[in-house]
Amino acid sequence: MGKIPQETIDRILDQLDIVEVVAEYIQLKKAGRNFKACCPFHNEKTPSFMVSPDKQIYHCFGCDAGGNVIGFVMKYENMGFPEAVETLAAKAGVELPRYDKRDEGESSLTARLYEINTIAAGYYQDNLGSGKGKGALEYLERRGLNADTLAQFRIGYATAEWEGLQKYCAARNIPAEILRKAGLSVQSEKGKGDYDRFRKRIIFPIFNERGNIVAFGARVMDDIGPKYINSPETVIYSKSSVLYGLNFSRRAMREKGHAFIVEGYMDVIIPFQNGITNIVAASGTALTPRQAAMLKKYADTAVMVFDSDQAGEAASLRGLDILIDNDVNVRVAALPPGEDPDSFVKKHGARGFEDIADKAKDLFDYKLDLLTQKFGGEKIRDKAAIAGEMLPTISRVKNAIVKSAYLKKLAERLGVNESALRDEMKKVKNDYSYRAVPETTDAPAPWNYVSSEIHLLGLVISDKDMFETMRTELGLHMFRDENIKKVMGVIEGIRVGDDTVSPGKVLSRLEGDERAKAAVIRAVAKADITEDGERVFRDCMACMRKENRKEELKTLTHMLKQAEKDRNDPEIRELLMKINRIYKEKTA
Ligand code: GTP
Ligand code: MN
Repeated sequence: MGKIPQETIDRILDQLDIVEVVAEYIQLKKAGRNFKACCPFHNEKTPSFMVSPDKQIYHCFGCDAGGNVIGFVMKYENMGFPEAVETLAAKAGVELPRYDKRDEGESSLTARLYEINTIAAGYYQDNLGSGKGKGALEYLERRGLNADTLAQFRIGYATAEWEGLQKYCAARNIPAEILRKAGLSVQSEKGKGDYDRFRKRIIFPIFNERGNIVAFGARVMDDIGPKYINSPETVIYSKSSVLYGLNFSRRAMREKGHAFIVEGYMDVIIPFQNGITNIVAASGTALTPRQAAMLKKYADTAVMVFDSDQAGEAASLRGLDILIDNDVNVRVAALPPGEDPDSFVKKHGARGFEDIADKAKDLFDYKLDLLTQKFGGEKIRDKAAIAGEMLPTISRVKNAIVKSAYLKKLAERLGVNESALRDEMKKVKNDYSYRAVPETTDAPAPWNYVSSEIHLLGLVISDKDMFETMRTELGLHMFRDENIKKVMGVIEGIRVGDDTVSPGKVLSRLEGDERAKAAVIRAVAKADITEDGERVFRDCMACMRKENRKEELKTLTHMLKQAEKDRNDPEIRELLMKINRIYKEKTA
């Protein structure tokens, strides 16, 4: 997309209230003029995340994240600037200028792949609804899926044709190349054109967090061939970073604070249809650090729903340490023999499903019980084996109090000395492949601002009169910090053209300049905790004058020395006069 005009961005910012937008993502509590919450960008128990309706910005005192509503959506949704603006434009009812997709270069490949996947999903859905998909539809109905669910999860059918999708796309002038890049078609070995990857299968589109279709899972209806084939990894699809169902479940996950984690597509869809709307699947793989980090954005607790086979295996619990690395509480729920989430919820309903969550054991207890059953725990060697399985899990727990309680409990259960366990734990090697993905922060390094400058910025950025006073009495040239100076220039620009200045608007004009944006956030945060604004305003201006005088004196003294060396009498006289004037100002 071309550059979005500033005027359009301003219109969006004027239409939207940051409080309303943020409240769609996290729960906000009123706190004086502001709203507060636990920060969604770092782990915390007491809220230090603030949203200001007056200033139209958010700020976290804990991790220093901050920005306007666009910045919030970018960070929360992991979106680029244009994408976030597009999302918010829709919310605000502001129309963005159109652009021609075909003119774009490389950068739009992602968009084109989303588009082709959407077209393909539509094609498969049409098949399912037509006579061609009669058998498939009957199969899905037999499995209990209703029409709303089929539509919501965009389930479809790929016919037995070799070139069904190819032809459909060719008729719409979609290049074969893009189908190949999306993994929807396969180049035949003899180089004689392409054929459809998915044939004679039920199609489950796989969505990313935001609901774009990134891939497909395709299931046979008979038992011929592999049960599922999936899209290959593409530019937009990495198996390890998708949680199936997250786009539908994330809201309920956030509300409830926990998520069910199941194995397969049907194990998500059927419970979802029955009212379990906080459920995701890792789709047949062990959880990856990426998936764990994604989950943690929405819920603090993961309830693993295991069938009775898996539940009996300590090995299947080992992978859960990934969640602990991400500070997720893990609970394990075991289904009765022969049941999977799909069949269980059909028998016992949502209520029954919620019940097993309530009864789910904490991973620590679950694992310890399981190991005790397996090893007995009487012989010394058994005790060592149990400790050997438990310690890697415990060592990952971040909360020191929880960790210590676990150690104590383990020591009691095994009847061994707690300090011996502590020593053993030190030997546990941290397998780095297990580690959570480090949060990438593109925030600039902490910056040392001149205190009076940053305070002043915070005050004048949302008070027109103060800005005016400062501009005339002090002048913008007095600021020495380049970032703050830049921000002042931006405020000046808005002031001239428009009458409402807010930190939110200022930020939108500093897109791409992380340093200047950070200065704004820091400044506003400072102003927020300033009690007597008017006095601080005067003090800061006085302080800056003094600082500037000091600087000027230094320069003049230096010049004076030079002039004396040169025996430049008129220059000396001039400089002495200037210096005198500054001294007088100082004592005035
Ligand atoms: P139903 O048998 O229809 O109930 O499907 P399911 O989704 O419950 O499948 P199952 O429990 O057997 O497997 C869980 C998940 O593992 C599936 O949803 C797939 O993501 C994955 N999976 C299962 N079988 C295969 C396979 O043959 N190939 C691949 N690539 N993945 C599979
Ligand atoms: Mn199943």
